[in-house]
Amino acid sequence: MERNTDTVGGTFEVAETDVSTGIVPASGDAGPQKTVFIKTYGCQMNVYDSTRISESLEQEGYTLADNADDADLVLVNTCHIREKAAEKVYSAIGRLNKLKKKRANSNRPLTIGVTGCVAQAEGREIFRRAPSVDLVAGPQTYHDIGKMVRQARNGERVLHTEFEIAEKFASLSKAHPTAIKRSVAAFLTVQEGCDKFCTFCVVPYTRGAEVSRPASQILDEAKRLADAGVREITLLGQNVNAWHGTRDGGEWTLGDLLRALADIDGIERLRYTTSHPIDMDMRLIEAHREIGKLMPYLHLPVQSGSDLILKAMNRHHTAAEYLGIIEGMREARPDMAISGDFIVGFPGETEEDFEATMQIVRQVRYASAFSFKYSERPGTPGAELDNKVPEEVKSERLSRLQALLNEQQLAFNRGCVGQEIDVLAEKPGGREGQLSGRSPWLQVVNFEGDVSQIGSMVRLRVTHAGPSSLVGEPVS
Ligand code: SAH
Ligand code: SF4
Ligand code: F3S
Repeated sequence: MERNTDTVGGTFEVAETDVSTGIVPASGDAGPQKTVFIKTYGCQMNVYDSTRISESLEQEGYTLADNADDADLVLVNTCHIREKAAEKVYSAIGRLNKLKKKRANSNRPLTIGVTGCVAQAEGREIFRRAPSVDLVAGPQTYHDIGKMVRQARNGERVLHTEFEIAEKFASLSKAHPTAIKRSVAAFLTVQEGCDKFCTFCVVPYTRGAEVSRPASQILDEAKRLADAGVREITLLGQNVNAWHGTRDGGEWTLGDLLRALADIDGIERLRYTTSHPIDMDMRLIEAHREIGKLMPYLHLPVQSGSDLILKAMNRHHTAAEYLGIIEGMREARPDMAISGDFIVGFPGETEEDFEATMQIVRQVRYASAFSFKYSERPGTPGAELDNKVPEEVKSERLSRLQALLNEQQLAFNRGCVGQEIDVLAEKPGGREGQLSGRSPWLQVVNFEGDVSQIGSMVRLRVTHAGPSSLVGEPVS
């Protein structure tokens, strides 16, 4: 994955993914085979949702296709975070439209569905802009996906954008482990939605209010993942550290949940993303001091180093408060790697404000980061602001910021050379005889190894560091 890019890609967001969710094809039962291809854009939450959708459709008799050409049903799971992300969706639908026309008179018509954040934000408008679409379903409706798909296959036009998050979570918890063969590292959504209303952001509108999944559901799902061979779990939430629940008669926050997850046999590593500075609490910081399985990596977006811009963005904290959190984390876990998100060119951002962003970056020393040009999103308060920053100024600031972040990332990676680290072997590497996994600080590490080692923790000495990955050799 490209880092520090201004494309659909980021911490919270990942590059577009052809979801091969690890479903084992259904065992040749009667009836014609139906196949589905899911194209996923946007953040890890969407990746997680695509996995759940494919599990539900498997119950409807679908198997996964490798591409749209081989599919009876194509779902585009979309992202609305920046303009470019939304545009990509319409060009993908345009390509599918051609395929649909080609197949119209064949015995294999194509059904097209749009899910995710563009579906939520644009709803019925999608049918107008893209008449080939049969189904539009928002992120909180996937518990009904089987029924919606059946209706769409029967020629109905289906639109579902209600917020029914409790139903979605309840049905996720019933997910069927039978046919799931997972990778050794998995995502687990614990919280969805956002009440923060940063003035630049669409997420509160597309994902709805903050809702935490009950602790018991999360622990059950984690146990099932562990039983299926998962060794590393990344807890997901738009504001994951706002997660709260009750358990054993007490109020729990994310730190308590992480402690309980660390006790599950088979789970060797825990991570969480994305956190908001104003939801950081001592229990989470203490969790990093106490839980060995909790990896020393914190993704904590700051967006800007200027207090004026932070206020205009409605972030509810200052640059100094952010630095205080980082200091607390590093005190608890001196080897903590910090990662962040940045937006340059928010309306009103002066050269002085931008310099404050460069300054906070110098102070924090990031291990990795994602940085973006501000993209005006319809319906957000930011879109109403004057003093817009010209595109060329945004581009120029972004390249200065990215040069500094890239330098810091390389310095962080180089600092690992010579160290002995544990890497969870996740998959075959790029070359024959090579495996690939992640360091405690989330860096990709390539090393010589055999596929039989996948799923186990391998002790390596780091021998080489590049801008976005490390090379290690096994330590006997
Ligand atoms: N909930 C997380 C971030 C979710 S969105 C948080 O509050 O930190 C992921 C990242 O996309 C944000 O951190 C921000 O850097 C970027 N982003 C969101 N809206 C944007 C916009 N309108 N223009 C540019 N970048 C944006
Ligand atoms: Fe968007 Fe802000 Fe909520 Fe993050 S906290 S999802 S940036 S509104
Ligand atoms: Fe994109 Fe929605 Fe995630 S807008 S970043 S897919 S929450």
